[in-house]
Amino acid sequence: MPNTWAIGGLDLHLELDSRRKSASLEDALRAAARDGRLEAGTRLPASRSLAADLGIARNVVAQAYTRLAAEGWLESRVGAGTWVAERSTAATAASAPPRDGAPLALDLRGGIPDASAFPRRGWATAARRAALDAPASALGYGPARGSMALRATLAEYLARTRGVWANGDRIAVTHGFGAALGTIARVLAERGARRIAVEEYGHESHRAILRAAGLEVIPLRVDGEGAVVAALETLPVDAVLLTPAHQFPTGVAPAPSRRLDAVAWAERAGAFVIEDDYDGEFRYDRLAIGALQSLAPERVVYLGTASKSLAPAVGLGWAVVPERLVAGFDEQLAATAGLADGLNQATLDVFMRAHDYDRTVRRRRAEYRSRRERLEIAVAAGLEGCRVSGMRAGLHCLVELPADAEEHRIAAAGARLGVRLSGLGSYRLGETGPKRAPAIVIGYGAPPPHRFETALDRAIAAIRAGLDRGSNEGRPAAAR
Ligand SMILES: Cc1ncc(COP(=O)(O)O)c(C=O)c1O
Repeated sequence: MPNTWAIGGLDLHLELDSRRKSASLEDALRAAARDGRLEAGTRLPASRSLAADLGIARNVVAQAYTRLAAEGWLESRVGAGTWVAERSTAATAASAPPRDGAPLALDLRGGIPDASAFPRRGWATAARRAALDAPASALGYGPARGSMALRATLAEYLARTRGVWANGDRIAVTHGFGAALGTIARVLAERGARRIAVEEYGHESHRAILRAAGLEVIPLRVDGEGAVVAALETLPVDAVLLTPAHQFPTGVAPAPSRRLDAVAWAERAGAFVIEDDYDGEFRYDRLAIGALQSLAPERVVYLGTASKSLAPAVGLGWAVVPERLVAGFDEQLAATAGLADGLNQATLDVFMRAHDYDRTVRRRRAEYRSRRERLEIAVAAGLEGCRVSGMRAGLHCLVELPADAEEHRIAAAGARLGVRLSGLGSYRLGETGPKRAPAIVIGYGAPPPHRFETALDRAIAAIRAGLDRGSNEGRPAAAR
């Protein structure tokens, strides 16, 4: 009797065993409180209404509530109702591994998807199908570039949704985007490349991957029309890494002429463009612009990921590689054991062929679009002198601040209020020209739906506090 129920205004997936209703309801609620799906303070429905929703007797729910209260997972007071107790959050915080070493608050850093929306049931069904149906050959040592079946499925999907010029022979499935980026960087270094240009604003972790492959990383200026690709003509570089559909993290929509210029430069210089198409499926105001790769499939290496549409834990990414780089890609993948695991690939293949991937992307798009709209409304209503900028796309945008604002004060105020925010400056590499006006990168993807409004309220409060010169909020303790 698996199903999804609305608990305290939020959808919660509960697996109930019809033969042991009380015990399985208890187990399901305890697990949800322990792993954080039900957060401390969440009000549970009255036993009568939950019983009606679940189609079970009221006393079964009441017994489960009583026992969980005795164990300390729930609290209840006559007349006030039942809610998730504080201790359950403490247990969660202690057991959940913090990302980047910091305790997890509400996370509004750029580019992180809502992992609570992972399509658990669809994925579990696909995993079961894959495990039952996979031929023995799929369980052995497969081709370095990944399963032929998934590569063919991806070729169809990428051509249909992103206009990528692809066939299975030039696709490689990797252990996430990072492995694809590292592999192509090593391929280029092996062929003699020494330097690569990267947009001056981007992820330090990606720059580190390029450096680890032996490439020197040179910043390329980003202005209101995207990366200033004309500068490539005078930079001593052999390749460039771009986010040509939606610049990360400024959110700028790269101008069509810049895309053409990037490809023309690569063709003239015998260089390569690495296209990071991390969120190309998420465009809200109009049809998504197609992949740059289709303009020059022999000069552009296309990289994509399942992290934004499904979840980072899926750990699958893909590369569409120019013909002349395919053999080198195979060698580097094999040499560094960058292969994606076979059963996971088979699962994604089943999931995509059943069109569950398309459905998931459509659902995520609707949710993220609505978050983006709510964010724009909240900023307009609550933050004088600030504005939201960046394309209506993806999982992030900028909140541009008054010229004298200090990003670090806002990030610090966010930390005090329990929301992780990052300033645009923290993504910057080197000096390439005039610094952009101060801004906060807001990633509206990460919080689960029932926490989004709280995260937004706190972000607005943090920005207000960080802008308020008279306030101590956001000032390091030692400076007070
Ligand atoms: C701009 C950009 N590119 C690529 C990725 C990589 O995705 P992953 O390494 O999770 O596959 C991310 C993830 O945050 C991103 O923000």
